[in-house]
Amino acid sequence: MCRLILILILLVIIVIAYFWWKPEAGGTNTDVLPVVLWHGMGDTCCAPFSLGAIMSLIVEQTKGGFVRSIEIGDNIVMDFQSGFFLHPNEQVDYVCKELLKDERLAKGYNAIGFSQGGQFLRAVAQRCPQPPMRTLITLGGQHQGVFGLPMCPTLTEKSCEYISKLLTTAAYTTKVQEELVQATYWHDPIMENRYRLGSTFLADINNEVYLNTYYSENLNKLRKFVMVKFLNDTIVQPKESQWFEYYTNGQDKLITSLKDSRVYTNLGLDKMDKAGKLVFLGVEGDHLSISKAWFIKNLVPLLLEK
Ligand SMILES: *[C@@H]1O[C@H](CO)[C@@H](O)[C@H](O)[C@H]1NC(C)=O
Repeated sequence: MCRLILILILLVIIVIAYFWWKPEAGGTNTDVLPVVLWHGMGDTCCAPFSLGAIMSLIVEQTKGGFVRSIEIGDNIVMDFQSGFFLHPNEQVDYVCKELLKDERLAKGYNAIGFSQGGQFLRAVAQRCPQPPMRTLITLGGQHQGVFGLPMCPTLTEKSCEYISKLLTTAAYTTKVQEELVQATYWHDPIMENRYRLGSTFLADINNEVYLNTYYSENLNKLRKFVMVKFLNDTIVQPKESQWFEYYTNGQDKLITSLKDSRVYTNLGLDKMDKAGKLVFLGVEGDHLSISKAWFIKNLVPLLLEK
């Protein structure tokens, strides 16, 4: 009951924020590369206590750099729902077109993805080299997928339970792949082949099915690929997925290091590593718990690089 009231209050705040408050998007300083943000599951482009605040922080720290926070669809409700129900391939397609249309991004941009927005932006880098992405920063991204959904923020317990059950029992059926975003990066390490053949998004962008050199070439065009892992994450299972590592095939306890993983060579991460382009950052705290001070100290310098 108490939870329901909280959720209702939250919804009211979101609606009010949407109509009365638009985050600062900058754009007066053209010496600094624009920044594109992609929000996580259960979030939206511009809520003031979430991505809106980060937009304002970036504008302030880059002295007026342009920030574009991706909104899927025409309104906040569609934006929220697409995080669960619109297939990532369609979302990436839509975003690629939107970015290409935006003249302010034509000379290149930096990108920051929050949670699942991290692997979605990586798909943008791999599939859509124009406009050119320079530095990709993923915060708590699930580059090797997840196996477990212990909590769904912003969902009721009942719908969370329902989604978890669907994932554990039927993730790779055509219907669930088409209708539930989280199923497309569900990575069952025990039945690894089911994942390779059944995942309609992650297995493709990770070159699990066949080696798509277009993907590895485009990814290698990045100046830097920065992966931020939350050391005490209780949402992403396993946490190591945030640094592109995963369970060793056949079980769900031991982790294979990135260098020993198939994806390391399959996706050309080995080349990026040799060129010093891969950056692994760890932050203490739970999923997406970054402080303003940490953001300014660790990420802002990356955004200011020429
Ligand atoms: C978070 O995880 C790190 C690394 O595993 C550990 O050293 C630290 O004690 C943990 N912090 C908390 C608050 O649990």
